[in-house]
Amino acid sequence: MEAQSRLTIEQNVLVLKRYAFLERSLTRTLAGWLAGVPEWEAKNLIGLHIWESADAAEALHGRLRELRAHNFERGISDGLHTLARELDCAAHTADLIATAYLVVKKALLAAYRAHTGLTWEEFDNPTVKIIREKLIDTTEKQVAWAEAFFPEVAARYPGWEAWQAYIAGLLAVDGGVTGAEPRQEPPARPAGHALLLPWKTCQRMPGWPIFDPDTDVEPDRQAEPEAHRLWRFKHYLNEMTAAETLASILWMTPEMPWEFHYNVARHQWDEVRHSQLGQLRVQQLGLQVSEVPQVVQIYNVMMTLPAVDQYALLTTVIEPNGMPEKVANREHWEKIADEVSAAAVSYDWSDENFHIRWGQKWTPVLLQTYGYNETPEAIKARTEAWLLENTPVKMQKRMATGEY
Ligand SMILES: [Fe+2]
Ligand SMILES: [Fe+2]
Repeated sequence: MEAQSRLTIEQNVLVLKRYAFLERSLTRTLAGWLAGVPEWEAKNLIGLHIWESADAAEALHGRLRELRAHNFERGISDGLHTLARELDCAAHTADLIATAYLVVKKALLAAYRAHTGLTWEEFDNPTVKIIREKLIDTTEKQVAWAEAFFPEVAARYPGWEAWQAYIAGLLAVDGGVTGAEPRQEPPARPAGHALLLPWKTCQRMPGWPIFDPDTDVEPDRQAEPEAHRLWRFKHYLNEMTAAETLASILWMTPEMPWEFHYNVARHQWDEVRHSQLGQLRVQQLGLQVSEVPQVVQIYNVMMTLPAVDQYALLTTVIEPNGMPEKVANREHWEKIADEVSAAAVSYDWSDENFHIRWGQKWTPVLLQTYGYNETPEAIKARTEAWLLENTPVKMQKRMATGEY
């Protein structure tokens, strides 16, 4: 057994900390950008990748704890912190994909592939198992998607080459992903690139129809079951705005513990999944995504509130208020033998139970962390009253007043 080139346990811990830090950074940057990406395919996949990056960090944290390393930030270089901050400063989708995916994720993938040969595989089996069975597989798929998708946005946005070279330079200054590569001179920062986060309005492709609250009439479930079903799944498709709200909340709350970000990363992916079940169903019913009016107003009006208020509103008002309607829809769709719609809403209902539980868990922590002089009950009442005044969607008003 050739011993000379293997990592010591201390070196291994430091490298695993760097992987975890980069996965947390990608979680944060991609979350900050979810609302800012207008391309529907990219938005859907970024929602998934936010969760996968968070889950990769969580798996690495678990292994680090087993290796008796509990402070995951200790030993992380200034250079890596700079890289993490600068990743947020993309100017558009092409910058974001060219850096987060085609620089950082790609470099992580190469490091993950090499790691099993660098550590003492015979003794460090749990690390190897996580890297082989979890990290390589998901990162490979993410990078493959980015490489296939990138030409579409590369042609549409200017200046990504210089930004990509700059971010790659920042990683190289710090010795690459592992910190062990030869260090290079610091790169010059391209002009512009002021921080655009958090996005105050959510972005959609030019020409996509925008929802008109005045024409949103809910068909009667019994009298017009087909029209009601199409109406309902169009609203599901628009749960993308809930995902965008949560992703921006994640970005706006760096003071919160990792466990909160881990839960919010999953919560936002669940909302992307609810949008996807809406997309699947409206497509089965004969519509294209690009024909469904986008309810951008919910995200945009919620962004006039602080992150804490947004989280309390979503998880202690909107989500609990929505539950009775889901139960009624499931019963209705089962009665008319629409098993696809019934299955879709039953998984949505199941997810929502967790979202409400997270809301009960984290709203008090947010209130304390950000110095609110308000109880969870008080912020629930205040944001509910605000919703009734400000929501552009009548359905939310009816749910809030318990009409279902
Ligand atoms: Fe949802
Ligand atoms: Fe939800």
